[in-house]
Amino acid sequence: MSRISYSPAFLVSLTVVTATFGPAQSQFVIESTASLQSCRSAPVVYSCEATEAIANTCCITTPGGLILQTQFWSTWTGLEKKGQKLPKDSWTIHGLWPDNCNGSFEQYCDASRQFDPHPSPAKLPNGTVITPYKGPSVDTLIKAFGRNDLLHFMDNYWINQGGPNSDLWAHEFSKHGTCMSTFDLACFGSPYRKHEEIMNYYDSVIRAFHQYPTFDMLAAFGIVPSNKTAYNLADIQSALKTQTGATPYLGCSNNGTALSEVWYFNHVLGTPQYGHFKPVESTSASSCSTTSPIWYYERTATSEREVRGVFGNWPL
Ligand SMILES: *[C@@H]1O[C@H](CO)[C@@H](O)[C@H](O)[C@H]1NC(C)=O
Ligand SMILES: *[C@@H]1O[C@H](CO)[C@@H](O)[C@H](O)[C@H]1NC(C)=O
Ligand SMILES: *[C@@H]1O[C@H](CO)[C@@H](O)[C@H](O)[C@H]1NC(C)=O
Ligand SMILES: *[C@@H]1O[C@H](CO)[C@@H](O)[C@H](O)[C@H]1NC(C)=O
Repeated sequence: MSRISYSPAFLVSLTVVTATFGPAQSQFVIESTASLQSCRSAPVVYSCEATEAIANTCCITTPGGLILQTQFWSTWTGLEKKGQKLPKDSWTIHGLWPDNCNGSFEQYCDASRQFDPHPSPAKLPNGTVITPYKGPSVDTLIKAFGRNDLLHFMDNYWINQGGPNSDLWAHEFSKHGTCMSTFDLACFGSPYRKHEEIMNYYDSVIRAFHQYPTFDMLAAFGIVPSNKTAYNLADIQSALKTQTGATPYLGCSNNGTALSEVWYFNHVLGTPQYGHFKPVESTSASSCSTTSPIWYYERTATSEREVRGVFGNWPL
């Protein structure tokens, strides 16, 4: 569940989206929409709470109905010189993950939709080897789909560390998205437009991310990045629980002392594409220290860029 590491040689292949968008960007917006008419008579229940077997797996994610919206707090990307920077005053997107209702999880569920150049793990617990993808990076697929608006948002908020953003996006879709039943090809329209479900997954991740403005929720409790003042885990947890209704998982690096990740657990009414997310308690214990101070480090100014106000016409 962690970021992948890259060889330096790989870093030179980074491409940066330099296009700027004014009001004309709306001409690029083509929604990718799952075809859910067959769900019309299906029971509408929260994932992981169905009392009967789910007959149509396009309507509710199953078995991975414990849906995690995961985010990073990083202070650097390693590719700043190439323009890959972090959004000021915001955490960044990690992904949207389908845990099973009992807390276990599946990964890399469809070899025919393997776009991850650096599979991690390279071999699944059941012995299946995941072959590294060598085709064009997923940003080219997004461009080919006409979703420059989506690409622009992703390049601002969905940021990798030590490798190009598109590697993280590919990793998330192939490792996690392919295990969410509502993104199965069978759930998409006829005629199916190639890669439609990938666009739909990325749109869904972004919608879910918008429900959890971690930076703002912490700031509302006076918890802001600082290299002078540290915080304690209970205060960070309580700030987030007060505003979301459930304690998320908090991840820390540096032996539990540097805040670096948050995972929001949810049951979802209907599909994670369009349904309602209900926060539930984390099933994983925090990796942050309960006794040492927790640092929520400030970023170096050269690792950040201003992004607020740029996405006024993002279609949510
Ligand atoms: C957890 O749930 C998954 C999916 O329903 C199932 O395959 C697995 O056997 C369960 N594991 C345990 C330990 O119950
Ligand atoms: C191994 O696990 C993956 C994902 O959980 C699954 O798609 C695949 O069918 C499994 N393979 C075998 C041989 O059980
Ligand atoms: C990591 O933290 C644990 C618990 O606070 C402590 O016992 C241990 O010495 C620390 N390890 C290092 C390398 O600092
Ligand atoms: C704060 O500390 C972190 C971690 O040591 C460092 O990466 C960052 O550059 C520092 N930020 C500032 C503004 O000094």
